[in-house]
This record gives sequence, C-alpha cells and structure tokens, in this order.
Amino acid sequence: MNKPIEQIVREHADRPGSLLLVLHAVQREYGYVPPDAVPVIADVMNLSRAEVHGVISFYHFFRRRAPGRHIVQICRAEACQSMNADALAAHAQQRLQIGFHETTADGRFSLEPVYCLGNCACSPAVMIDEELHGRVSPGRFDELIGELEAES
Ligand code: FES
Repeated sequence: MNKPIEQIVREHADRPGSLLLVLHAVQREYGYVPPDAVPVIADVMNLSRAEVHGVISFYHFFRRRAPGRHIVQICRAEACQSMNADALAAHAQQRLQIGFHETTADGRFSLEPVYCLGNCACSPAVMIDEELHGRVSPGRFDELIGELEAES
C-alpha cells in the first residue's frame, strides 16, 4: 500500500527546496503526482494550489497521469543527438504508436524524453524501467520492446 500523501509531505516539508523534494517523493511512491495530492501538498505546506500546479507543470519530469507498466526514456541531449537520437525517437514513436509524454492504449508503455542519462560514450542511450541501454539502433529498440511484449 502506498504511503499517504500527507505523511510524505510532512517528511520533507521543512527542508530547503522542499516542494521539489515533496514532489519527487510523491512521484517515487506513486509513479506520478496524482491530482488529489495537490490540495494536500498545498494545505500542509501553506501554499496555494496554483503554486503547486505551477511547479508540477514547469518540470516535465513530473507525471500528471499514472504511467504505463514500462517506462521507456529516450535521451534527447546533445551527444545522443549527434548519434541519430532524433531518428531513434521518431522510430520509437512509430513503433509504440504514441508521442512523448503519452502511454499506449493498453497501458503497457509510456514514452518520455530525458536529457542525458550519463551514458554519452554509448549514444544513443535509452533507459527502460531503470535499465540503461547504449548504442540503441532502431532494430535494437524493437528487440527490447519485443522482449517486454513477450513477457506480459
Ligand atoms: S547525451 Fe545522451 S546519455 Fe548523455
């Protein structure tokens, strides 16, 4: 069972930069920042709901909807761009039939851009469910997705 939002807020609310810490902790616990969490965070931290919403929408890192079972992140930063990450991103969207920040209709995959996975020497880089993959060609991408499709 997930930890209640109010408890998460109280655990982080007195630290510097606490709103971001709280939002990160909520997303770690729930996989996203549920809309119901916003009034709780605002009340406990003595902020307006608009302030909390503003921060959530400013940082694309925070999800506002529950993600799919597998989170596929494609690096869009410079080193990967120079190794055809644009083509890989286009291929991934085509393969999964979704855009970035979207989830497949069956709830299986969510596609997200990231900006450097610290794997620049092995560009283009992809992270799938916390597992890092380097030198990912469109063919390798299809294999990785195919393996996950075969599992579930
Ligand atoms: S730029 Fe893609 S991993 Fe660093």
